[in-house]
Amino acid sequence: MNIVVILGSPRKKGNSQTLAETVVSAITASHQSSVEYLYLHGMKDLNPCLGCGGCEKTGMCVVKDDLIELYQKVDEADIIFLVTPVYFYGPTAQLKTLIDRFQARWSRKYLLHQRFRRNDKRRGYLLATAATKGDKVFDPCILIAKSFFDTIDVDYGDDMVVRSVDERGALKNNDEELDRARRFGKEIARTFETR
Ligand SMILES: Cc1cc2nc3c(=O)[nH]c(=O)nc-3n(C[C@H](O)[C@H](O)[C@H](O)COP(=O)(O)O)c2cc1C
Repeated sequence: MNIVVILGSPRKKGNSQTLAETVVSAITASHQSSVEYLYLHGMKDLNPCLGCGGCEKTGMCVVKDDLIELYQKVDEADIIFLVTPVYFYGPTAQLKTLIDRFQARWSRKYLLHQRFRRNDKRRGYLLATAATKGDKVFDPCILIAKSFFDTIDVDYGDDMVVRSVDERGALKNNDEELDRARRFGKEIARTFETR
């Protein structure tokens, strides 16, 4: 199984990264997998969509930067994790930049009518953390993630969101949430075993 984890937080080793590593470790403990962590904060050349319409003719983005190689990695993944802290009710700018650049895939699907479904087993998941407890604090991130996965023809698996974690390390000290993350990962592994 090929797992790609896209980390959107600019804060290294923060709560969302802890969440992702805990979930993914639980998967790899029971399911042989290759895992690639893609740290958007480490990308020097990451540019927003220009809205230029260049992709409408070819399905490919005209902006040539560090994101270009991610298209293929995402295409080849069986499981894709979008990982982000909540920033003003949405994903981080880094993650939203990546998502907007997949407008090239939207063009490929809806304008050029080229479906890309490598197989039916592929799943996308959202992992997100936030400082507050609000009922709706993750709603925009979930909607955006669902829209992203729909655009790339990957079925939405599920999401795991963690409220009330703010300072770096807060999640590392929260055994209850770490346990929940391990159970979430095991459940994903089970889903793939039965397919
Ligand atoms: C610019 C910024 C905006 C934020 N906006 C929100 C918000 O709208 N709601 C919320 O609950 N937490 C908000 N937070 C807190 C983060 O979501 C929280 O600290 C998260 O656990 C950080 O994850 P990380 O350590 O992976 O970066 C914000 C933090 C920053 C820096």
